[in-house]
Amino acid sequence: MQSSKPIGLFDSGVGGTSIWKEIHSLLPQEKTIYLADSKNAPYGIKSQKKIIELSLKNTERLLGFGCKMIVVACNTATTNAIKVLRETFPVPFIGIEPAIKPAALKSVNKAIGILATKGTLASELFSKTSESYATDITVIEVEGNGFVELIESGKKDSKETEALLGNLLEPMLQAEIDFLVLGCSHYPYLIPLLKKILPSSVQIIDSGEAVARQTKAILEKNSLINSENLEIIPEFYTNTNPEVLKEILNFSKNNYSVKYLDF
Ligand code: SIN
Repeated sequence: MQSSKPIGLFDSGVGGTSIWKEIHSLLPQEKTIYLADSKNAPYGIKSQKKIIELSLKNTERLLGFGCKMIVVACNTATTNAIKVLRETFPVPFIGIEPAIKPAALKSVNKAIGILATKGTLASELFSKTSESYATDITVIEVEGNGFVELIESGKKDSKETEALLGNLLEPMLQAEIDFLVLGCSHYPYLIPLLKKILPSSVQIIDSGEAVARQTKAILEKNSLINSENLEIIPEFYTNTNPEVLKEILNFSKNNYSVKYLDF
C-alpha cells in the first residue's frame, strides 16, 4: 500500500518552513501543503486553550485538503496541543520538541542554553523532557520574546533583532554554554545572527533534520510513502500578506505555489 496524498504542515507563521525544508529535502517525492497561521502569531504568549483551538482549526483545514499525515511544525503547538490533536483525528501526527537530549548528553561544559517561547517553556511536555535528560547540567532557559514578531515582519537580519539577541543571550554567555538548543521553528532563521554573537565553540541545534527522519519513519510504518512519479509543486497558504513567506522560501527561484487563504 502507498499514498500519493499530501503531507500537511502548520505553524503559527513562516517559521515552520525551516521544518518543511528538511522534510522536502529528505522526501522530495511527497506532496506537501503548508499553512502559515501568521494572522494569529505569536502562539507562544497565548493560553493553552487558545493554542489548542488554533491547532484544531489548522488541522481541520489540512484534512479538508485530504492530507494523510500532519506535521505540527511549531514547538508551542506541539507542546500544548498534540495530545488533543492525536485524540481527535485519525491520522498520524509528528510534533517538534526542543532537542534537549542530544545537547545534554554531549555537553562537555555541562551547561546548555534553550531559547524557546514562553508557551513551550511553561508546558508540561517540556518540563518532563528537561527533567529526564538535563539532570546533572546547568540549563539556561531564555524566553525569546519578540523574535517571532520580528521574523514575521521580515526583520530576521535586522539590527533590532541582533541587539535583542545580544541582550537575551548574555546569561548563556556568562554560563559558558557549549550547546544552544533552538526550541521554536522560527529560530533557525536567526542562525546567521546567532553565529555572529556566539563563540564558534557553541553548537546550535535545531530539530529540523530529526523531524524529517521521523516523518519518513512514520510514513513507512503506516505504509503511506508515495511511490507514484508525480510532478511536485509544494503548496503554501498564509492568512496574511504572502510577501514575507515568499521571501523566506526564495519564491522567485523555486517552483512553489504561495497563496493567500482565509482560514
Ligand atoms: C510562536 O508562535 O510563538 C512560536 C512558534 C513555535 O513555538 O515554534
